[in-house]
Amino acid sequence: MNKEQTITGVIRGTGACVPKRILDNKEIAGFVDTSDEWIRERTGVRRRRIAEKETTVSMACEAGRQAVEEAGISPDEIDMILVATGSPDQIFPCTACRVQEALGADGAVGFDLNAACSGFLFAYNTAQAYITSGICRTVLVIGSESISRLVDWTDRGTCILFGDGAGAVLLQAAEGKTYRPAAHSDGSGGAALTGPGVRNRIRSIDKDGRESKTEYITMNGKDVFQFAVRKVPQVIQEVLERNELFLEDIDWFVLHQANARIVDAVARRLRLDIGKFPMNLQDYGNTSSASIPILLNELNRKGVLKKGQKLVLAGFGAGLSWGASVLDWDLER
Ligand code: UT7
Repeated sequence: MNKEQTITGVIRGTGACVPKRILDNKEIAGFVDTSDEWIRERTGVRRRRIAEKETTVSMACEAGRQAVEEAGISPDEIDMILVATGSPDQIFPCTACRVQEALGADGAVGFDLNAACSGFLFAYNTAQAYITSGICRTVLVIGSESISRLVDWTDRGTCILFGDGAGAVLLQAAEGKTYRPAAHSDGSGGAALTGPGVRNRIRSIDKDGRESKTEYITMNGKDVFQFAVRKVPQVIQEVLERNELFLEDIDWFVLHQANARIVDAVARRLRLDIGKFPMNLQDYGNTSSASIPILLNELNRKGVLKKGQKLVLAGFGAGLSWGASVLDWDLER
């Protein structure tokens, strides 16, 4: 083994599953006061997928199954299944246990991890920690969301942004360079983006017999936007410095797909060509923890990613939370 080489988690397969139902901007403009033009200009989103029959579990299972299939391994080789989700079908059993059963991954331990839109990145880092420490050899990491179920479809400030779906990567221990991630949380900014609480699911009945209002996602879009545009370039620089790399060493910057204007602004702040920042949010909207693995899968299946290329993944969102990780792409298609 080369001195610089250590055991690291290498992506051996990817997968994705999005719901069948397509909801385009024009249709949204039919029930809230907005327009296709406004949504496209302010967000880049043209359409998104909405889970009807699909669930967070079913999409996670399908995305995971594809990643395992591409890796060419047997499900019983999987040591761990991590599912990042902020919109599980149930609080427990966790989504990962349902995936474990469905895939027949009898030897795997599974648990969910919630860091909102940063969830996949943090789950990926967790998987790497288990692999580099020698505890696990094979880890399936999934981001799956039915976030449309948490959205207030009368609130034009949020409903235009989000979509449902799942993405997955299968990591396996191999000789390679281990990169240190950069990840942060700032709970003091938590009010900028919130989801429903458990206590609000226990519906109370008021004295007139009316049920209390169900809570939805609330967002101060401007605050989240400014936070993302400030913190994402910083954390990308931080992860590169930590690993003695430069911006020029990176072939692709795979960012959480929240808003095309955020991705544009990050590229501009880093003085990089926008062509290095692939996007698919025009088709799927913001799928929260699923956006990075859905995009990775698309780039992988289209043969855009080449063996030996270096990628930076960067996530950000509610918490507030944000982070970036570096990886060497090792899949040949
Ligand atoms: O995954 C991480 C989570 N979230 C994000 O990353 C979201 C980050 N933020 C954003 O993407 C943007 O802030 C939004 C897309 C949510 C909003 O865009 P914006 O350019 O920040 O708009 P704004 O909230 O400043 O609103 C500008 C105007 C307002 O009207 P006035 O007060 O100027 O008359 C809004 O009422 O646009 C109005 N507006 C809309 N108009 C048509 C807000 N939403 C809509 C809408 N259609 N859907």
